[in-house]
Amino acid sequence: MDSFAERSRLITASEIRELLKLVNRPGLISFAGGIPASELFPYDEVEAAYQRVFSQSKETAARALQYSVSEGYPPLRELIKEKMEKLGIKLSLDNIMVTSGSQQALEFMGKLFVDRGQPVVVENPTYLGALQAFIPTQPSYLTVPIDDEGLQIDELAKVINQHPKFIYTISNYQNPGGVTLSHARRLRLIELAHRYDVPVIEDDAYGALYYEGEPETPIIALDAAQRGGDIDQTNIIYLSSASKILAPGFRVAWAVGPKAAIERMVMLKQGADLHSSTANQMLVHELMTQPAFVDHLAKLRQHYGERRTAMLNAIEKHFPPGVAYTRPNGGMFIWATLPPVFNTKQLLQQALDEINVAFVPGAAFFADRSGTNTLRLNFSMMPPERITEGIELLGGMLTRELEKAGVAAQ
Ligand SMILES: Cc1ncc(COP(=O)(O)O)c(C=O)c1O
Repeated sequence: MDSFAERSRLITASEIRELLKLVNRPGLISFAGGIPASELFPYDEVEAAYQRVFSQSKETAARALQYSVSEGYPPLRELIKEKMEKLGIKLSLDNIMVTSGSQQALEFMGKLFVDRGQPVVVENPTYLGALQAFIPTQPSYLTVPIDDEGLQIDELAKVINQHPKFIYTISNYQNPGGVTLSHARRLRLIELAHRYDVPVIEDDAYGALYYEGEPETPIIALDAAQRGGDIDQTNIIYLSSASKILAPGFRVAWAVGPKAAIERMVMLKQGADLHSSTANQMLVHELMTQPAFVDHLAKLRQHYGERRTAMLNAIEKHFPPGVAYTRPNGGMFIWATLPPVFNTKQLLQQALDEINVAFVPGAAFFADRSGTNTLRLNFSMMPPERITEGIELLGGMLTRELEKAGVAAQ
């Protein structure tokens, strides 16, 4: 069979994924994943929530098993509404829809805004899954670099007059960069987005996972605040998800934004999957309304925070001076940049062979395929001791390689 559409040919298996598939071997210390720690899932609470959904009454159980509305389970949307109202946003349930993971919302963003070849702004680097989600609509990319304060607004200002169809930003503890868009830049982003009338997709997958200081106010709340709280006057579509705070297996996430956009996204959803799993939406609602949820979040922050600190301390101690890295206050990733002569794809192969350590070479996260000297390190999936051990090994290897290349003193 080979009569596939042109668009399907754009979707190629990731080389990195193929390489990492082979690495299920004993003793491997992997910083390559990007997923929650399964030992931290709230197993007992999930079991209790199942009990409540399925044993409470025949009506509730039937509701969980039945088709439901494309917009999403109303009590879950009501809960999201309350959360957004606490940020000073005035909105109704029509401003909120449930999606099957934020991944689905990202695919809708492409379909909603972009015709083939039209430009969109993405951070350089950005979430690889977003680049994959946008493939079917075949945008062109205007890439804007990030630094310790997130998306570089001065750089954005240079390209925004090319009329991008949207600006996609991962505002908190970015995947892969670990950096957060600063308050001042959020305000400048809003100003530019309105001046040029460009929608902003604010992907807040990691905002609840903070380990130091409080998270920044969401861009959508700052935008609404400038417009009397009215969400329909904002230029933002805000995405968040139960994946990182509960469990990704539920595939429950939400999009919040002006009615005009949500309405069209709901129509796209009808064509995509009718609605997200009713049972899972009810479970997520149950879980998020229990008092134990607050404790669960605190537990995640404590464990992930320890892992982050272990990784940062080990990097500080063992990485050679020629390697720059980010110091995230939340999320799951640290991002490292080597001197330009290095190719981290080759270094991954070497790390697997020599020290049994894995990471993700950074180029995959760049829409323009630059960043061949960068790499992403995940810290959510391993206990601190293993993290320290793996970073020590990696630091040793990088030190040797930098010495060989004669760039140790940079
Ligand atoms: C920045 C970002 N956005 C979206 C997603 C997708 O999450 P979900 O499980 O909600 O589809 C991820 C998952 O890793 C992510 O890192």
